[in-house]
Amino acid sequence: MNRWLPENASSYGARIDGVMELIFWIVGAWFVLVIGVLLFFALRYHHRWHERAAYVPARTLRGMAIVLVPTAVILLFDLVIETASTRVWDLVKIDIPPAAQTVRVIAKQYTWTIVHPGADNQLDTADDISELNVMHVPAGEVVHFELLSEDVIHSFFLPNLRLKQDAVPGRTIRGWFEATRPGTYQLVCAELCGLGHTNMRGRLVVHDAEGYRAWLGSASPAGGK
Ligand code: CUA
Repeated sequence: MNRWLPENASSYGARIDGVMELIFWIVGAWFVLVIGVLLFFALRYHHRWHERAAYVPARTLRGMAIVLVPTAVILLFDLVIETASTRVWDLVKIDIPPAAQTVRVIAKQYTWTIVHPGADNQLDTADDISELNVMHVPAGEVVHFELLSEDVIHSFFLPNLRLKQDAVPGRTIRGWFEATRPGTYQLVCAELCGLGHTNMRGRLVVHDAEGYRAWLGSASPAGGK
């Protein structure tokens, strides 16, 4: 199934793909089964189309079993999905690992302003590096982000990082990711936010250690130090 998805460049991406795959196979198997049973009965009894269907009241446990047993089985599968996805939710949303730096992402119709902390790894200092629609991060390091919106709801979507988070006006939403391999990846808006929604896109540039230092040096307001 992974070959249908964008290339994974995230430390937790494989875990998210795993949950998607689990849901795909469970729901897929049920879909095939239910449609199969439906088709079987439709074909098997279609010659009796003129007969009225019988109403079978479920007064006995046996009569109710036809509803209760599938319900219990489906509930069981739900619990399997729930257990698997809760672990991933905790990993991504609850147990946030420490990071050397926090990057601020400001969404606004129809641009992304990315404020990098610069060489001192502190936001709101003189060496902050602000870029329009381009985010720079080092590979193999945890990065925190704080996400803001200046107007409507947007959604910060890095498909290769398996990261999608709404940006909500009035709120600062924090999260993290770790890019595993250098490269340039898509950044898109995943929430319909107005006429320019489809043009609200940018890039995530993941550098190796050397490339990151080089970028810091060239982009820093003070020439880097
Ligand atoms: Cu911002 Cu769609």
